[in-house]
Amino acid sequence: MSDVTVDIELLRSEIEKTYTEVSTEPAKDFIFPTGRSWAEDLGYPQPELSRVPEATVESFAGVANPYSLGRIEESASVLDLGCGAGTDLLIAAQMVGSSGRVVGVDMTKSMLERACSSAAEMGLSNVELHESLIESLPVPDASIDVVISNGVIDLVPDKDAVFDEIDRVLRPGGRLQIADVVIHTEVSEDARDRIDLWTG
Ligand SMILES: C[S@@+](CC[C@H](N)C(=O)[O-])C[C@H]1O[C@@H](n2cnc3c(N)ncnc32)[C@H](O)[C@@H]1O
Repeated sequence: MSDVTVDIELLRSEIEKTYTEVSTEPAKDFIFPTGRSWAEDLGYPQPELSRVPEATVESFAGVANPYSLGRIEESASVLDLGCGAGTDLLIAAQMVGSSGRVVGVDMTKSMLERACSSAAEMGLSNVELHESLIESLPVPDASIDVVISNGVIDLVPDKDAVFDEIDRVLRPGGRLQIADVVIHTEVSEDARDRIDLWTG
């Protein structure tokens, strides 16, 4: 259980509002970097990044590059927690090929719509998308080889619930490739209750 007292429903609705904006008004200035030039700066793998449609990459809002930990093997099954508009997901789909599969989960509908239309534009048939919370995954036990995520777990107060779900869905020997925000000092109680600090 989380010891955070923030109003979880309010937090989720503010997060959804922020990331709906990232998907519907991607050219806007956000307090975090977005878009293709940001993914290029992070050293995303090529040519896979160049093949991902603009409709997806313009709404890229990751915090780092999970592929700096290595490529994903052909035929693997991959789960992207908080896939957003699908940049990491559609790169994984190219790496695993048609004998693998990638599953994207996100709670913001307009992000998923971008991921879905880009997967169709790329002619990918190994992509599955779910509108869901990552604290409660619509994914069977022990069915995933690699869990990826980028800039999402930091937004969730109940991190134990997320890691319990990761533990449940990963096959024995499976692995995590996560990019996220880590802080090395204790967060004050005041800061923990500030929704504006959670959503960015
Ligand atoms: C910073 S964006 C990152 C999106 C994507 N990973 C990327 O790199 O572009 C955070 C995403 O996490 C999603 N999200 C935040 N909390 C979530 C939760 N509890 N369950 C599912 N999705 C969540 C948001 O809807 C948003 O699309």
